[in-house]
Amino acid sequence: MPGTVTKIRRERFFLIRAALFLIAGVTLYWGAGSHLLQAEEAADRGAYLTAASGCYGCHTDIKNGGKPFAGGRALETPFGIFYTPNITPDAETGIGGWSDADFLKAVKQGISPTGHYYFPAFPYTSYTKMTDEDALAIKSHLMTLTPVMRENQPHDVSPPFSWRWLQWGWRLLFFDDTPYAPPAGAGETVARGGYLVEALTHCGECHTPRNFLGGSDHSLYLAGTANGGEGEKVANITPDDATGIGDWSEGDIVSFMKDGMKPNFDDVQGSMDEVIRNSLSKLTDADLEAIARYLKSIPPISHKVQ
Ligand code: HEC
Ligand code: HEC
Repeated sequence: MPGTVTKIRRERFFLIRAALFLIAGVTLYWGAGSHLLQAEEAADRGAYLTAASGCYGCHTDIKNGGKPFAGGRALETPFGIFYTPNITPDAETGIGGWSDADFLKAVKQGISPTGHYYFPAFPYTSYTKMTDEDALAIKSHLMTLTPVMRENQPHDVSPPFSWRWLQWGWRLLFFDDTPYAPPAGAGETVARGGYLVEALTHCGECHTPRNFLGGSDHSLYLAGTANGGEGEKVANITPDDATGIGDWSEGDIVSFMKDGMKPNFDDVQGSMDEVIRNSLSKLTDADLEAIARYLKSIPPISHKVQ
């Protein structure tokens, strides 16, 4: 009978091997599938985060029919005119050749792959509060765009403001790269709202006044300014009753961010109109409510702008 025993052993061995093979196959297939799914999800999340962060509005020359994200939009500032660069995945003229590390350093630290400092007309000063995960989801989305060949245009800014190396000093004075921390005692909604406001939608880049060197004056956080970018008056959006939006309900703020209509039936003007059209109107109700709740939770500052 030894022959039968060997045969049974061999069969058992074969069965075990087949089972192992099957398990390995399924695991591999599953793994690859969920990786694809993860990449897809990251790209979808990236599209949402890209919209929230307003990259499109600045990096597209909408007025002159420019291609999406191919740059060339003129940004007028008190220091001169900045022209946004091409952030499509074109390998030569865009950011197609950038690594994840290059992208994080640019968006969160304001430093280019070749080591030069970006000007704060690029709001890396807010994006620095973004998580690496969110920033890389944005990169995943940008990499799915059609590459556009378009050379970057030099800025039209006069010295000393055009000297990139001077940014070294500016950064020392004004650049704070501590990660986002929710206000003390904030619940989940206010914490999310604060993250959206500070890191992604960068309301403070326009709504917080700047000193003569272009650094944000944190003592007037979101309290508005009479001389914003492009010479605009930017409203006080702290919950102060007389000078801010203390008399707006959370619902008023949410519906304004969707369609630009104010509680007094005035229409939104200027760059805020663009912010709503290109960015805020694309957010989920939950995120808009989080922003509104956060704005109602910050300290009111009496600061007259109009
Ligand atoms: C308020 C306008 C504005 C917004 C909003 C904005 N950018 Fe920019 N961005 C700029 C300007 C201006 C520069 C050029 C800065 C310089 O030359 O120093 C720039 C530069 C860059 C660069 C460097 C490109 C290169 O070739 O070196 C990248 C990458 C970039 N932006 C990505 C983004 C992403 C991603 C977003 C959204 C999360 C975004 N930007 C939102 C204005 C903006
Ligand atoms: C690119 C600059 C810019 C950014 C970014 C920006 N705003 Fe504005 N915002 C403005 C300007 C300019 C006005 C004044 C225009 C007006 O009142 O119609 C304004 C007006 C407003 C008003 C109307 C206030 C009033 O009393 O009439 C609200 C509310 C507001 N912004 C909220 C926000 C929020 C919330 C964010 C961030 C999610 C934000 N803004 C981001 C430029 C900006």
